[in-house]
Amino acid sequence: MKYLFIVLAALSLFFFSLPLSVMAQPAAGEKLFQKLRCTKCHHPDKKINGPALKTIVRAYGTPEKLLGYFKGESDPIVEPGRAKTMKIRRKKIKKLQEDERQSLVDYFFSFQGAKDE
Ligand code: HEC
Repeated sequence: MKYLFIVLAALSLFFFSLPLSVMAQPAAGEKLFQKLRCTKCHHPDKKINGPALKTIVRAYGTPEKLLGYFKGESDPIVEPGRAKTMKIRRKKIKKLQEDERQSLVDYFFSFQGAKDE
């Protein structure tokens, strides 16, 4: 019994010490990303029509800043000259639930630090 308690205590310590990024929900964000057809123009590490996700993450640096863009609180910074393409998508993203927007951010940031091919 005492042993079990120690194991449980160790386990909970482990989970509480996980960094936030590991506890994020990138899988839900990935599904949403596909459902909204963002994949048509965005690839994790290649530029297709739109910039690669890792390029976007590098430009933003923190999840909070990217969330601000998705909420419509900040202007585009990656390729502002081509921002027109994103206009209708941004409207869609703005209409999402808060946790859905956050899951998109988590998905994007799962490519943070991805190496250039
Ligand atoms: C028709 C092609 C297309 C689709 C579909 C598309 N994008 Fe984009 N996206 C672009 C282009 C082009 C840019 C570069 C212009 C810009 O930076 O605003 C861009 C830029 C971005 C940026 C960077 C904005 C910045 O700061 O410059 C984010 C974030 C982004 N897209 C997310 C999404 C998400 C999420 C979806 C799905 C809801 C999506 N995109 C769908 C073409 C597309």
